[in-house]
Amino acid sequence: MIGVFDSGIGGLTVLRELVRRLPGYRFVYFGDTARTPYGTKSPETIVRYAIEDTEFLLRHGARMIVVACHSASSVATEALRERFPDLPIFEVVTPSVKKALSVTRRKVIGVIGTRATIESGIYQRLLTARDPEVKVYGNPCPLLVPLVEEGWIKKPETRMIVKKCLLPLKMRGIDTLVLGCTHYPVLKKVIQAKAGKRVTLVDPAEELAEEVRAYLETHPRLALELEKDGEPLILVSDLTPNFSRIAQIFLGRKVNLVKAGDAPS
Ligand code: DGL
Repeated sequence: MIGVFDSGIGGLTVLRELVRRLPGYRFVYFGDTARTPYGTKSPETIVRYAIEDTEFLLRHGARMIVVACHSASSVATEALRERFPDLPIFEVVTPSVKKALSVTRRKVIGVIGTRATIESGIYQRLLTARDPEVKVYGNPCPLLVPLVEEGWIKKPETRMIVKKCLLPLKMRGIDTLVLGCTHYPVLKKVIQAKAGKRVTLVDPAEELAEEVRAYLETHPRLALELEKDGEPLILVSDLTPNFSRIAQIFLGRKVNLVKAGDAPS
């Protein structure tokens, strides 16, 4: 199976894109709802969680890992690759960096995400390593996470907060904006409206899913060995009726969440 993990259920935005591009494959998703959020935690804690989440998915039949969580992708990718050297590991940051560089016109790129993601400086490092002329501006927008989880997608309060989040980036004249958090693609319309139509949005969920699809196309042996068909298995470390409700917002359809008895804690 293709294993996907996130700090919670926001990563279902990534699963949705993966299933869309790889409908024949079977997925096992782990949402660490008992320990969410990750975006407010220290890098050491996020690394530990990411390693435990990966071990959990391997126990449940994953043969490759997709890190849907931006906070984990930003601070834990290196540690994961060191710990699991033979495992194909995909994360959301690199494909977004590639896309941002390919669409920026004036080389002024904005990134929004959790505090862990923005403070990691990963986008700044990866973008300028590939193009030293590029200017990168980040702004943490943690308030958007609970707003999405409450389903406040079209509320005036949400529009106002999006506007405030984007203001410092707009003042820098960004022409490209990376939606660096699992929850933000749900707010794409509002973000586009507030960023202005001249700003190109990069949706990491789409870019990552495309990368995984391309990888499997060029690795037929692994592609052949992976389990096919069947509904995605969506495991969580804590289950409440509210999580099931929110999950629908992210996946865009009814979801059956299963509480995993052996989840890390
Ligand atoms: N999944 C997280 C991310 O993409 C957002 C929620 C959290 O802070 O855990 O960074």
